[in-house]
Amino acid sequence: MDRLIRKLEDHSAIIGIIGLGYVGLPLMLRYSEVGLKVIGFDVDNEKIKTLQSGESYIEHIPSSSIKAAVGNGFVATSDFSRAKDVDALLICVPTPLNKYREPDLSFVTNTVDSLVPYLHAGQIMSLESTTYPGTTEEELLPRIEKQGFKVGKNYYLVFSPEREDPGNPDFKTQTIPKVVGGVTDECLQTGIALYSQVVDQVVPVSSTRAAELTKLLENIHRAVNIGLVNEMKIVADKMGIDIHEVISAAATKPFGFTPYYPGPGLGGHCIPIDPFYLTWKAREYGLATRFIELAGEVNTKMPEWVIGKAMDALNERGKSLKGSRVLVLGVAYKKNVDDMRESPAVELMQLLQDKGADVNYSDPHVPEFPKMRSYSFDLKSVELNAETLRNYDLVLLATDHTALSSTLLRSNEYERIFGNSGTCGSE
Ligand SMILES: NC(=O)c1ccc[n+]([C@@H]2O[C@H](COP(=O)([O-])OP(=O)(O)OC[C@H]3O[C@@H](n4cnc5c(N)ncnc54)[C@H](O)[C@@H]3O)[C@@H](O)[C@H]2O)c1
Repeated sequence: MDRLIRKLEDHSAIIGIIGLGYVGLPLMLRYSEVGLKVIGFDVDNEKIKTLQSGESYIEHIPSSSIKAAVGNGFVATSDFSRAKDVDALLICVPTPLNKYREPDLSFVTNTVDSLVPYLHAGQIMSLESTTYPGTTEEELLPRIEKQGFKVGKNYYLVFSPEREDPGNPDFKTQTIPKVVGGVTDECLQTGIALYSQVVDQVVPVSSTRAAELTKLLENIHRAVNIGLVNEMKIVADKMGIDIHEVISAAATKPFGFTPYYPGPGLGGHCIPIDPFYLTWKAREYGLATRFIELAGEVNTKMPEWVIGKAMDALNERGKSLKGSRVLVLGVAYKKNVDDMRESPAVELMQLLQDKGADVNYSDPHVPEFPKMRSYSFDLKSVELNAETLRNYDLVLLATDHTALSSTLLRSNEYERIFGNSGTCGSE
């Protein structure tokens, strides 16, 4: 343990990052920036080729940063035998839900199964993927100990959840405090040494299960409060009150109130998915997670509510949704990013199309509609200008990218279309 901590502290340790996505890539950049050598592992050979040639494939991560990391010795590979060359293995692979909306841990377990033949004594493994309490001890620990290691004695195992907020310029990997929990106290001490090289504040907790639940609490807190404000939006709308005015006024209270904003539904890889990891695990304890279920129910109904409002708006002008030309503005799941995962805007496009509308979209961050598991649109982003806007019966602002509102303002169309009532950007 002392030897590993020394190597981490004098930056002679080699870091292995598995899963070079929205979470793994910024983490790789940070280790590389402070001077540690990083080997990145992924199963996607396209990504490996792109990164290895010094290019980024994520819009908010500049290629210059990837080039600098390659210059500092970063290599990307699909050869898992290189795990034998590293001192730390940080696992950042997806944790989605399966078609029954139950946790799909196959990415995590497949990763660990690919790594175990190459583990060596004196190494640390950290799981960063969001998951239910117990995963590290129930899924990772037995796989490592089966190889003959004694965790806490000659191998170290921790859980440390990622808190990435892609596209948010106010926080970077270094300044976001990092929670870490170890299987034993020795694991925790090693985990603290691993992360204190790259983040300003490491927050130790008593166990991997506490660290796993911490991440879920953070995301459930958001899902439930977004559900609440979405419900408030429906009530306010029926009462003829502007919910945005109310939230702004309430947010002036200097204590005891945190503003959350309504939207057309939940999006992204985290908030619509992670709460249900806890729901599933709680069943093992005979418990129902009613707040989570209720928030899920309210939030998943949002796209239909938006479609209802769109139909009302057309109806007032003597038009039906069927046969109308509709332009959806912003299809990424949140403002100023190119990530489409679970985006409610896409659900809106599908519902509009199902009802017979002729649908197009405009999103400066998504020039071409990507291949998605559940949706298929053979569309390219429509260029936004006063001329194109006039061709549509309905313009639906789903994700309020900064670039969209400035284009609309430039074309003098923003006020005409949206008035002063603000937007309904997705959470
Ligand atoms: N995106 C976020 O903002 C965010 C924030 C906090 C936590 N998380 C959590 O972090 C984890 C990763 O999320 P992400 O957004 O980075 O996902 P991602 O899809 O962007 O990246 C995951 C990467 O893992 C790779 N991969 C898949 N299976 C693999 C395997 N067996 N071996 C090696 N690589 C493999 C994929 O090719 C991909 O490059 C998830 O558990 C997520 O819930 C994400």
